[in-house]
Amino acid sequence: MLEQLDQIEEKALTSLNDVDSPDALEKWRVMHLGRSSPLMQIFDAIGQVPKEERPLIGKRANQVKRSLETRLAEREEALRQEELHQSLQTERLDVTLPGRPAGRGRLHPSTMIHRRISAILEEMGFQPYLSRDVETDSFNFQLLNFPLHHPAREMQDSFYVAGGFPIGESSENDPVLLRTHTSPGQIHAMRELAASDPQNPPSVRIYLPGMCYRYEQVTARSEFQFTQVEGLAVGKHITFSDLKGTLEDFARRMYGQFVRTRFRAAHFPFTEPSAEMDIECFVCNGAGCPVCKRSGWLEVLGSGMVHPVVLSNGGYDPNVYTGFAFGMGPERMAMLRHRIEDIRYFWSNDLRFLEQF
Ligand code: PHE
Repeated sequence: MLEQLDQIEEKALTSLNDVDSPDALEKWRVMHLGRSSPLMQIFDAIGQVPKEERPLIGKRANQVKRSLETRLAEREEALRQEELHQSLQTERLDVTLPGRPAGRGRLHPSTMIHRRISAILEEMGFQPYLSRDVETDSFNFQLLNFPLHHPAREMQDSFYVAGGFPIGESSENDPVLLRTHTSPGQIHAMRELAASDPQNPPSVRIYLPGMCYRYEQVTARSEFQFTQVEGLAVGKHITFSDLKGTLEDFARRMYGQFVRTRFRAAHFPFTEPSAEMDIECFVCNGAGCPVCKRSGWLEVLGSGMVHPVVLSNGGYDPNVYTGFAFGMGPERMAMLRHRIEDIRYFWSNDLRFLEQF
């Protein structure tokens, strides 16, 4: 029996070397340590062995059993390690590879120029006033001195809201539309300030930024949405020289200390007199080039003295108060600055364009 045990042990341990998977290991366990394995049969047979031989055989049988169990556990662990090693090899993750760069966001070119304009105007003492995008015909046109069939409306055709649901002061014959310019904010701001002290309204020095909409055929030069920044100053002794001085100062801050400006007579129903300001072309320094269409000058904004009708519509007595207003288009200014030849790039969300700023 002792010899048998030696053989059992040797056979089991030799065959363990061929076990190369958890399944095979389980089979091996059943075969060599299972209930009907040769080793277990020896345990069963110990009862029939002469008494004096029993301790020796029992001891040896237990030794063999322990030895098989130990080797089984070792093999199990080895297989686990092997498996782990293999998966590390095949599903290898190289943590030293450079990561995919996360796209870094940036400001839209309109936002950038907008912030610059705002910063300059704020340094000059203008405070922001936000006005609504949806307006009534009264505010967008009539209170700004565009009478009902005035031809100047032609240049500012807009998107009308069907049915003209009532907002604020709208009524059935006062259609609702998307504002065509930021100028209606002048009336809202003046009325709000005048309401605080109707007998002696406070002076006004504000800027009104925002999106405007026009029913335009979209081309390289015109979009149906664009932003504007409007400026408004109203007080008791404001003259045309204040307008000129303010805008010249603005141009120097915006375009550099030595920029030359010129004013050209223009027409807007809500200012009188009206003027457009040009700056000397910064591409050719006034010599004439394709950007300034050979004129040497670039138009940057519209302006004028606030029309008496507009002042009184805002609650300011035109016999006591005067004021000036100006309006500029940030996209246009950005186009000039960066020589962008198509305004449609601003809202087409093409990263190849946006990433250049
Ligand atoms: N609202 C005018 C426009 O959109 C610009 C402007 C503003 C002109 C203020 C004069 C004064 O064309």
